[in-house]
Amino acid sequence: RSLTMEKRDFSEISDTCKWESPDYEPWFPVSEKSNPLTRDIDKSSPNHIVRLLAACDAQMFQKDTGTSYQRLFSDSVVLTMLEVARTVEQILRDPEDSLVVLSGCGTSGRLAFLMASCFNRALRDRQQNTVYCYIIAGGDRALLTSQEASEDDPKLGMLTLEKLCEGKRRVLFIGISCGLSAPFVAGQLDFCLKHPDIYTPVLVGFNPVTQAREETMPGYSLTFREVVQRMEEQRGQRAFIINPAVGPEAISGSSRMKGGSATKILLETILAAAHTAAFTNTHVTRRVLLDMMRGYERVYSVTYSHSDQIATLLQTAGLSLQCGGRVCYLSWGSLGLVGLIDASECIPTFGADYEDIRGFISGGYQDMDNIEGDLTSLGSQFCIAHEDFVSLVLPTLSDRDTVLLLYTCHDDVGDVEKMVHRVREKTSNLHSLYHGLEGDTAVVRAHTHTHTDWSTCVFVFLSDCLCVCVCQWELSSKLVLNAVSTGSHVLKGKIYRNHMVDLQVTNSKLYHRAIHILQKMSGVSLTQCEEALLKAIYHVEQLPEDITSAGVTTHTLTASRRNRVNKHTHTHTQNQQHVTGARVHYRLQRKAQP
Ligand code: F6P
Repeated sequence: RSLTMEKRDFSEISDTCKWESPDYEPWFPVSEKSNPLTRDIDKSSPNHIVRLLAACDAQMFQKDTGTSYQRLFSDSVVLTMLEVARTVEQILRDPEDSLVVLSGCGTSGRLAFLMASCFNRALRDRQQNTVYCYIIAGGDRALLTSQEASEDDPKLGMLTLEKLCEGKRRVLFIGISCGLSAPFVAGQLDFCLKHPDIYTPVLVGFNPVTQAREETMPGYSLTFREVVQRMEEQRGQRAFIINPAVGPEAISGSSRMKGGSATKILLETILAAAHTAAFTNTHVTRRVLLDMMRGYERVYSVTYSHSDQIATLLQTAGLSLQCGGRVCYLSWGSLGLVGLIDASECIPTFGADYEDIRGFISGGYQDMDNIEGDLTSLGSQFCIAHEDFVSLVLPTLSDRDTVLLLYTCHDDVGDVEKMVHRVREKTSNLHSLYHGLEGDTAVVRAHTHTHTDWSTCVFVFLSDCLCVCVCQWELSSKLVLNAVSTGSHVLKGKIYRNHMVDLQVTNSKLYHRAIHILQKMSGVSLTQCEEALLKAIYHVEQLPEDITSAGVTTHTLTASRRNRVNKHTHTHTQNQQHVTGARVHYRLQRKAQP
């Protein structure tokens, strides 16, 4: 057994760097490559899944290995971060008519919201005017549900930014696109380049600029790569690009995982350092940035030191999903936002129903503090307060369901206890993730004493370093929840090898991703795969001219109106690969390892 473990350790070490080779899947950018570490994740046990996720996340902090890739700690990356932090610092010192705008699509937009809220709160606490704004493609409803189509619209991105910044004297625009690919963000960056007197654009992503997307955008003359090239011409003065490579995602293309975590680490480091400098009358230094990033690396280590408990959580959540039960995250404070974000991503990533994994935040929209306010009237998917959980979910809660409570030492323990009692009346499947400060062990005793009936308690303690404690708790929670939601869907069978195989083809990136997945699984040409996908989207056996001549937008619009259409399934290969309407499924079952 120990020999097997050693063999596995050795192959993990060599797999860690494999993706950096120029021969490894050269046709994909880093953000879309499949990670050699996780090629068998679909056959792994809960403990092994967590171990693989930890190994993938470790790649974020890997030092420069002398390849052509920049890393998080590379001098070039830290230097650009320093320049951006100094620009934020100047805005904080003289905020009149100035804005820092964070923008993105999907998870990148949700994180833009999370960070803008967090740093505005920090300004309010100091009785300062707020300077941060967020933009998410598809508006506030995209914070909780997937609105993938707006991601393809560069003009919409540009117009939204222009409207938000009307009358401003100075705008630092931070566009987040993990894959250097979202047309919505490209339109905004291009707009900034055209108005350098007001706007300074910053692009955050995780591919080298040579891997930025080359596809043309509807109604736009430039590609993402051309916009990035224009930024490069101004790099370091009027435009900044922060793009370390963090390695391929554990589930190919799922940028909500490492892409999201690295975005949070980079931008929170920049903003927190700028705040510290502006309010202590010092200046941001390289050293401060490096220390903060090392703090996040520690968060990673401390969090995964609880791997056994995380594995128990994902196993429990997996069992709930497999038997038609639900997983509910009940959180307090900003951890609530992390829970809502993680839950909302399961719908596009795993073809999940919104009730499968669902987040609730103690004060609902009051705690969210989003631009468009209370969205409850949009439907039950938008009911996010604990009181909604009590009225909509609690009455039918049973042992089939998993409930995970997330809170910190800053939250009202009495309130947490009340919720524990209510949930315990319905299910014994109750777990908690508690964040405290180092040396806070009395809390553990108190909590273990009060909640001896909890199934799993994960206590994560971090030192109260600098001003990023809450941000660190959020990252720790993000890692745990990403592991729980990804791992439980792996156990449910929603991943084949390390590919999402129940994805909805609702925008051009997902359309091309689907074709490549089909190609990888079937071995037939990309053209044949595209034809198969189109036949399934349009429910036809032959493709007429009006379909083949239509653009990708027409196809994705049609696909987004379809849902789990199984009638017109086409079998294309001996592998029994099926393209079903808007979704791509594989009826391939891989046997779990004993
Ligand atoms: O459109 C789907 C999606 O891949 C989301 O899952 C992701 O969060 C979003 O696009 C944004 O991707 P990027 O940060 O690469 O622009």
